[in-house]
Amino acid sequence: VALAVFKDNAEASRCVAREIAALIRERQRQGRRAVLGLATGSTPLGLYAELVRMHREEGLSFANVVTFNLDEYQNLPPGHPQSYHHFMWTHLFAKVDIPAANTHIPDGNAPAADAEESCRRYEQAIAEAGGIDIQILGIGRTGHIGFNEPGSARRSRTRFVTLAPLPRRDAASDFGGEEHTPRQAVSMGVRTILGARRVMLLAWGQHKAPVVRAAVEGEVTPHCPASFLQEHDNALFITDLAAAGELT
Ligand code: F6R
Repeated sequence: VALAVFKDNAEASRCVAREIAALIRERQRQGRRAVLGLATGSTPLGLYAELVRMHREEGLSFANVVTFNLDEYQNLPPGHPQSYHHFMWTHLFAKVDIPAANTHIPDGNAPAADAEESCRRYEQAIAEAGGIDIQILGIGRTGHIGFNEPGSARRSRTRFVTLAPLPRRDAASDFGGEEHTPRQAVSMGVRTILGARRVMLLAWGQHKAPVVRAAVEGEVTPHCPASFLQEHDNALFITDLAAAGELT
């Protein structure tokens, strides 16, 4: 599996942003759209800031960009400060010229009776857009990608999942306590993610070093969903020095 180690996350984020910008501009020249799979969390913040800078200072337009986010919490109003919808509009969508209709986030508010159907429609929308060109991922301490926690099958598709105790505890401070933290989320599946033509998994900091090692060098197993990227022929792990610190 391919690995690129950078001095720090700023340098790494600029490199990822340049690849995305090159795809967007190539598609513009061809009169086509670029389809991006996007993540939330702290990891891609530098990447989104760099894309916004390129939009403002270098005229990078997102008019032909279509996005699909990995995941969303269940039953949060879209304006909820912890919703991934709010995150994406705050850090990227509102700061560039992407048409709102081109942005897609799994519907955490789908009523129970429509939940499966809404997940199926999400998969269909990705397919109708022509599939994802570049999928951006972070990685959780458990090895999760999106909300695909350990135990997620390689064949999993977009679905509602129950949050594991560790990520739920990690999120509790943002929600003002565990009792206010959602119990479920909707997430692209492992198979959805592996369907992207290019996958870029970003990881920064020493606390990610053990899980980066498991994902890059460990066996391919549902116990570490990120390890499935080893089976993708165009996946790249991008780390800073600290996150690469336990690789042999
Ligand atoms: C977010 C997501 C999660 C995060 C992961 C790492 O959309 O899918 O899998 O990428 O939990 O989170 P951070 O970046 O906050 O360390």
